[in-house]
Amino acid sequence: MSRPRVAVTSVVPGHALEWLETACETTVHRGPALDREDAVAAFVGDAEGVLCLLANPITDGVLAACPRLRVVANCAVGYDNVDLEACRRRGVWVTNTPDVLTEATADLAWALILAVTRRIVEADALVRSGRWTGWALDQMLGTGLQGAQLGIVGFGRIGRAVARRAPAFGLAVAVCDPDPAPEPGLDVRVMELDELLATSDIVSLHAPLDEGSRHLLDEARLRSMRPGAVLVNTARGPLVDEGALVQVLADGHLGGAGLDVYEHEPRVHPGLVGRTDVVLLPHIGSATRETRSAMAELAARNLLAVLSGEEPPTPVVRGAAVDGP
Ligand code: DGY
Repeated sequence: MSRPRVAVTSVVPGHALEWLETACETTVHRGPALDREDAVAAFVGDAEGVLCLLANPITDGVLAACPRLRVVANCAVGYDNVDLEACRRRGVWVTNTPDVLTEATADLAWALILAVTRRIVEADALVRSGRWTGWALDQMLGTGLQGAQLGIVGFGRIGRAVARRAPAFGLAVAVCDPDPAPEPGLDVRVMELDELLATSDIVSLHAPLDEGSRHLLDEARLRSMRPGAVLVNTARGPLVDEGALVQVLADGHLGGAGLDVYEHEPRVHPGLVGRTDVVLLPHIGSATRETRSAMAELAARNLLAVLSGEEPPTPVVRGAAVDGP
């Protein structure tokens, strides 16, 4: 019996490729990211499954050009690169990689909170510059966290993991979510977004990107944040109007920002680049060796399950039933 053909849009760590190659005719893309529909469609071709990354647009056009496709196994928890409605309509399964990246991403949100409030990047640059003249009482003063309020926008898995770390740093936690999941043993105040923005010293974004959340933080909302507050975004760039953020930072309204994601990745607004009160990371929330291997392996398990006619571990869209081998 012929083995199904699958397309993998990037080299991936861990055992994922080994598993796929054992069960399927597997083609791996090794060049620069396939970030255009036509390039994705040409690469996927007649494959029945694609293991893809968030840089790969999986649009209705791609699905139309790849009619044998049965499963889109996104190697990310977010899936804003996939047209879910088109997949639903065409009976194509979509899966993602939740849970395995929760703790790594929460750690990185905290790394940004600490880096911005304690001016870590600026301080490192001072030492490297050779201009450091020795300890001084008023040098590189940051902002303490004890007694401050951390506002978490989006109280899903990652938002809850960020919240769980807050008591260790002495912060109170406020959360905003249309359907906040309980987090036993943690004291959180549930608020509307506007109250959370007006009262939090640090605001950390953990909401998914969809049409309803694009520019959730527009200029008015950014200006409604507490003067001197810090914004952290490890979720998706378009949640924030990046141009407005530049303006609001330039006006001195905010105390700083820690960003791992951008509105038009990999482009970063030039108004952010020269600022010392902003820490900029290249979308590395889940970038630990263990986590990236676990993500790729979960994506591979999802893909193989669908092609074997089984229920995938973490479905987002349920596609048409597939006859197993
Ligand atoms: C995701 O999984 O959605 C991240 O942005 C990449 O880990």
